[in-house]
Amino acid sequence: MTDFAAWSRAIQTRTENVLAALLPDADIAPEQLHAAMRYVCLGGGKRVRPMLAYAAGEAVGTEVARIDRAAAAVEMIHVYSLTHDDLPCMDDDDLRRGKPTCHVAYDEATALLVGDALQSLAFETLAHPVAASEAGVQVEMLRLLARASGSRGMAGGQAVDLVATGRALDLAELEFMHIHKTGALIQSAVLLGALAGGALETGTRERLERYARCIGLAFQVMDDVLDAETDTATLGKTAGKDAAQGKATYLTLMNVKEARAYAHELLDDALEAIQPFGERGLRLAQIARFIVERRY
Ligand code: IPE
Ligand code: IPE
Ligand code: MG
Ligand code: MG
Ligand code: MG
Repeated sequence: MTDFAAWSRAIQTRTENVLAALLPDADIAPEQLHAAMRYVCLGGGKRVRPMLAYAAGEAVGTEVARIDRAAAAVEMIHVYSLTHDDLPCMDDDDLRRGKPTCHVAYDEATALLVGDALQSLAFETLAHPVAASEAGVQVEMLRLLARASGSRGMAGGQAVDLVATGRALDLAELEFMHIHKTGALIQSAVLLGALAGGALETGTRERLERYARCIGLAFQVMDDVLDAETDTATLGKTAGKDAAQGKATYLTLMNVKEARAYAHELLDDALEAIQPFGERGLRLAQIARFIVERRY
């Protein structure tokens, strides 16, 4: 099965099922918090980070079942970041994954707690004995996810985003922001999927890190392009928000054509990095292309 569309649908279904099993049922107290956690996690999203975890696992020969928890843990952190990103004190968005955002469907306090609880559940999920084949490697995986989520990763990037709103950033500052707010978690998805099967040789790890750095940056470059170019219905989130809110994005420094060309340069670099994996790197290559060529 080399067809990317079929493979990605299979991963989306798998992710949905794994998350549905890991999230507390909505009839367990506190019912509203659990219902809201399921509301934000289930029934939507491209699941790019889980796809990356499974694809990286495939590249290094990790058993698929071994990757489920790493993939789910990264997706939980991602969904938490989206839930908080949409809050009135951040981007103030009312649409996410084609549905009202968490604070609109529930309330702000619930959205805050959903993020807190998903972050904890992500680490609980990754700390389970079946999430890795070696305990020492598992500690390293936990450390990687913690770092990618915190002030030197996603949360730090979000802080830069807020400070930069209404201000011009130069290319280096913009790159710093993107690599942190989006790239860090994408990189952790790749590494966790690979590490779930055991320690990696230095060369293998470096190749995966380089691939992930390139596509992590390309992902946010394209997110900026799509915000400007695609409609709300296709995106499932409000289009045109970045310009309306004075966000620093790649499009404040270059036009759409240049931004797309930059994303393609990053794609070429990512593909070169994984060339030594040969056929086993097929899914990683397909996801990289999807990230740069996607329409939503
Ligand atoms: C959107 O991420 C937020 C960013 C980090 C750019 P995705 O585009 O992966 O959102 P979902 O998961 O498909 O909803
Ligand atoms: C958000 O970037 C990145 C994180 C949630 C960490 P954006 O603010 O551009 O994401 P969207 O466009 O709302 O999905
Ligand atoms: Mg934002
Ligand atoms: Mg946003
Ligand atoms: Mg955006």
